[in-house]
Amino acid sequence: MNKQRLLSGHETELLTSEELRKIREDRVMYKSGLVRILSDGWLYPAIATRYLDWIYNMELRPDDVFIITFPKSGTTWMQEILWVMLRNPDLDPNNKEMKEPLWVRSMDLCFDMFFDNYELAKTDMKSIAEKFSRVCPGKKKEDGMVIQIAESQPLPRVIKSHFPLELHNKDLLKKCKVVYVARNPKDVMVSNYHYVRVIRNENYQGSLEKFARDFMKGDLLLCPYWPHVLQAWRQSDNPNLYFTTYEDMKDDIMGQLRNINKFLGKNLTEEQLKKIAKFTSFSSMKTRGDPIDKAFYIEDLWKKQGGMFRKGIKGDWKNHFSPELNQEMDQWIRDNVKDTGLKFKFGN
Ligand code: A3P
Repeated sequence: MNKQRLLSGHETELLTSEELRKIREDRVMYKSGLVRILSDGWLYPAIATRYLDWIYNMELRPDDVFIITFPKSGTTWMQEILWVMLRNPDLDPNNKEMKEPLWVRSMDLCFDMFFDNYELAKTDMKSIAEKFSRVCPGKKKEDGMVIQIAESQPLPRVIKSHFPLELHNKDLLKKCKVVYVARNPKDVMVSNYHYVRVIRNENYQGSLEKFARDFMKGDLLLCPYWPHVLQAWRQSDNPNLYFTTYEDMKDDIMGQLRNINKFLGKNLTEEQLKKIAKFTSFSSMKTRGDPIDKAFYIEDLWKKQGGMFRKGIKGDWKNHFSPELNQEMDQWIRDNVKDTGLKFKFGN
């Protein structure tokens, strides 16, 4: 079936073999192909349609906190902040859950669709498989290991998602709190480029220039960028959504932690917040190690490019852009932020 309607009301459209052929030139492909979710054209492995309806129907709890981002915007950083604030604010080293990697303490709702990838399907994602058999006895893997682990997670849950707001349940912002982190699109693109080259489900082979142009066209997985960010930006007055940016976190992490403390109603002390800032700093997180299974990445390439904690700076795009690409992107940014009031900092 080429077209389908999701519970969220969105129509889906499978990519044609010609479109798939072009995309396949640079990367590893998905068994069931790719799909666009209309009208913004979100591009996902086609199997996503199965999981999106499940996610739409997922039971929401009033104390759930969602961290929603476009990929490579600082998700892992904020995810760890939220997780420790909610589940281990004193950073007790004997906390049992804390011994698990972040990606099984706080599940990524997008992740199940990646198992449909030819390369990833061959690997053994141990921490997820083990957790699934432990906390979801009798349940079927095909229904989504990650989503079902998320459903059984102890409360309060910290749930990660790269799906845009509109693909979640329509009551998400009525029932739960959402933290949205945006990052300037130049650094998002550069960070994504480095990442997709070293993960098994992409092993991207194209140039940065080609990647940048496909990013602007929305022809990459999990794109397009602007509607993702702008949907959240338009909700930034909603009391259940905290909108922030990677750049603001880099400039004043204590200010951000105070805001989040208030947003979550936690009443943590200044002393606790200082410790959390240190615990979630780039160097501390890098020292503790990658929060995901080795099976997910191509080890030698991954290590060479710095792993999950690659550079952690503002403005790395300046090390990668030609003047022409910069002009093109500036124009694309101007066209898209026009009349929105959204302003990004582009780094020092
Ligand atoms: P770079 O690739 O520019 O270094 P995400 O978690 O959304 O995938 O985002 C990854 C980006 O956030 C990477 O950017 C990574 O280095 C950066 N990052 C992760 N943890 C961080 C931290 N504690 N402080 C600052 N940056 C961090």
